[in-house]
Amino acid sequence: MCDKYVIGYSISEKKRQKFNWNDFCSVCESEGFLLKMIDINSDLEPQGPFHVFIYKMADKLALAEYGDQNAKAIISKMKEYFCRHPEIIVIDPLDNIRILINRYKSYEILQKQLKLKDVFTPRFVEITSNNNLKNRTLLRMTGIKFPFLCKPLVAQGSNDAHKMMVIFNEQGLKDCPRPCVAQEFINHNAVLHKIYIVGENFHVFERPSFKNFYEKDCTALNTIFFSSHDICKSGTKSKWSILTEENIPLTVKPKREILEKIVKRVTELFGLLLVGVDVVIENHTGKYAIIDVNMFPGYDSYPNFFEQLISCIKKLSIKHKDL
Ligand SMILES: Nc1ncnc2c1ncn2[C@@H]1O[C@H](COP(=O)(O)OP(=O)(O)O)[C@@H](O)[C@H]1O
Ligand SMILES: [Mg+2]
Repeated sequence: MCDKYVIGYSISEKKRQKFNWNDFCSVCESEGFLLKMIDINSDLEPQGPFHVFIYKMADKLALAEYGDQNAKAIISKMKEYFCRHPEIIVIDPLDNIRILINRYKSYEILQKQLKLKDVFTPRFVEITSNNNLKNRTLLRMTGIKFPFLCKPLVAQGSNDAHKMMVIFNEQGLKDCPRPCVAQEFINHNAVLHKIYIVGENFHVFERPSFKNFYEKDCTALNTIFFSSHDICKSGTKSKWSILTEENIPLTVKPKREILEKIVKRVTELFGLLLVGVDVVIENHTGKYAIIDVNMFPGYDSYPNFFEQLISCIKKLSIKHKDL
């Protein structure tokens, strides 16, 4: 690789620290790549040329999607720049990433196009109306029973995007903010499998999650307000993650070959290199439910992330040249 191969990046200082970005500089240097920070607020043309453009800008993208003029201007500037420079490898393409900002859209793609044996995305519906009679009918028609998850439509961009609820009964419907996505709750024995993908490679991390809920809970419990960070953080155990003795033996280990299929299919479907997938395994059926897909997730626990990223970039650049 010649030493003029330039990787431009736009990643916030905070995220760079979390990632130990200096390690990436060393990896790039030893592999003959030049790493160059991009100032996204200035003109891009004079900052180039770049061979690769890597960015983590979920917040800006979400703001742009929902009308923020400044964010919109930045995103359209990037779009124009990429159009003028089709030779640049963009990680990941803006149009592919955009889909993941809207939970409804990403679930819809999974539901319609996943087509993998033993893998599914739980039933979901968008709730926009304040009329709960109408909402109850909508839920019934979609086959969503209590309890269900109520997730903000926007999946990125602020802490609010991760503020969710488990709704147990009709009284709880008033707790759903609008617009939101209602998604059926899958009993999964309080184990979440977080898959972090780098192209064809991936690592899976087990995290705590919600215990099982049953019909009797729907009369006994009130809405649980939570943030995914509170429930699923490694090393923590919320009271909502504690299983009963008789539930413990229901836990099953994920099968590597199914995870491989999920990784291949999700990267293809969304056209992404850096992506995270949250999976739970349904009790009794053993089916794998994809409950969340994230752009450029936090790879801080991922072993050799930078080496794998460079190896992907090398493979992509060979493919790109062949086109
Ligand atoms: N359909 C579901 N069934 C059961 N638990 C779920 C479901 N969807 C989400 N959860 C739980 O809620 C957490 C947060 O949901 P998620 O969609 O991953 O939101 P975030 O975008 O904040 O990561 C998950 O990690 C999981 O513990
Ligand atoms: Mg998640």
